[in-house]
Amino acid sequence: MNISKIANTLEGSEIIKISGEINALKAQGQKIANLTIGDFDSNIFPIPGKLTDNIMEAYGSNQTNYPPAEGVVSLRDSVSAFIKSHFNLDYSAKEIQVSGGSRPLIYGLYMALVDPGDRVVYPTPSWNNNHYCRFTGATDVPVQTSAANNFMPKASEIKPYLKGATLLALCSPLNPTGTMFSKEDLEEICDLVIEENKSRSASEKPLYIMYDQIYSQLTFGGQVHYNPVSLRPELKDRVVYIDGISKCLAATGVRVGWAFGPEHVISKMKTIIGHVGAWSPKAEQVATGKFLTQTADWNEFLTSFKGKVQKSLDTLYQGFQKLKADGFAVDAIQPMGAIYLTIQIDYLGKKTPAGEVLKTGADLVFYLINEAGMGIVPFSAFGTDPGMNWFRASVGGCSLQDIEEMLPKVGEALAKLKVES
Ligand SMILES: Cc1ncc(COP(=O)(O)O)c(C=O)c1O
Repeated sequence: MNISKIANTLEGSEIIKISGEINALKAQGQKIANLTIGDFDSNIFPIPGKLTDNIMEAYGSNQTNYPPAEGVVSLRDSVSAFIKSHFNLDYSAKEIQVSGGSRPLIYGLYMALVDPGDRVVYPTPSWNNNHYCRFTGATDVPVQTSAANNFMPKASEIKPYLKGATLLALCSPLNPTGTMFSKEDLEEICDLVIEENKSRSASEKPLYIMYDQIYSQLTFGGQVHYNPVSLRPELKDRVVYIDGISKCLAATGVRVGWAFGPEHVISKMKTIIGHVGAWSPKAEQVATGKFLTQTADWNEFLTSFKGKVQKSLDTLYQGFQKLKADGFAVDAIQPMGAIYLTIQIDYLGKKTPAGEVLKTGADLVFYLINEAGMGIVPFSAFGTDPGMNWFRASVGGCSLQDIEEMLPKVGEALAKLKVES
């Protein structure tokens, strides 16, 4: 009543509620594989040692005053070179905006482009677009994707909603699924955006793409990460990329993110982020700028880090495939990128030994936390229907051993569920 309309519409995170239950049980001495949070246990997945050295060195040389609102030039120059070498894209330092992790950049981008009532189209499941829509008073247009396409959106699903929209928010590799765009699917979506923009008059706002590629360095096997401007260079004025070190360097607490895109949008994001004061700490910026040029250290870290993440994901995936082969109503999608596995557990409507009927994905999650010591997140936390039987498992917060020890308990817990009578 005494607070703003926006504050009233903002919801807390379902993931935090589940993590709260896990922490309470852990405090009572229960062993739980916490596959809920999209973060890393920093004792299992520490940041690169050289990055730590660079951060200490930057503090040692008193890099402790306000950084420039757009980010220190040495970091933006390094990011520009990184974008060129990894994606063969040309973005100069003035088309790059740095902030304290990538979240403020997403906020700044929404604030720079979206007016109250504007339509923002995004696929579900996806991460946090609903919250950024609340901040800006946007009309959300969530588009349900399908397991048949690994929960990645298809042009045919998005097409009916693009007319008059201001922003299309895309992400690959995708949180929560760990799946990625195929070249063809992304090309077709890019073509829709080009077509839609051609149909607008000069007085109308154009349609932009937010392309969140925070997990682009974390891809497995032969998977290739595609991005809109490489596929369709004519989109360069209409795409803003979100990126940073939080996930690829396991550096979620270091807080260095960057966006790149057309200068007319990036310069407005700089003003918004500057007023919020959501800069990345200066020493961390200087240190990251240096680490991006230490290519051998970067590659060495990424190879070993990715190997560990992939091993955990593969173990979990194989574990669910074995349960499936043993006759359990479960499935999983082969991990492609990021730190997530998509799992199906088709037990909604079943009764627990205590006589409770599992009506929603969240009910099943709480049952599995208690009975199998496995904490996962229902897709409903990412905008899908609460009755959906798909879940996200994130492997950054626990060890391989935790996962191996937990898997047999999942089968035992599922075996106790009965058909409701
Ligand atoms: C898709 C995606 N984008 C952005 C972020 C935010 O990252 P940061 O920690 O850099 O703010 C996350 C964090 O989970 C994410 O999953």
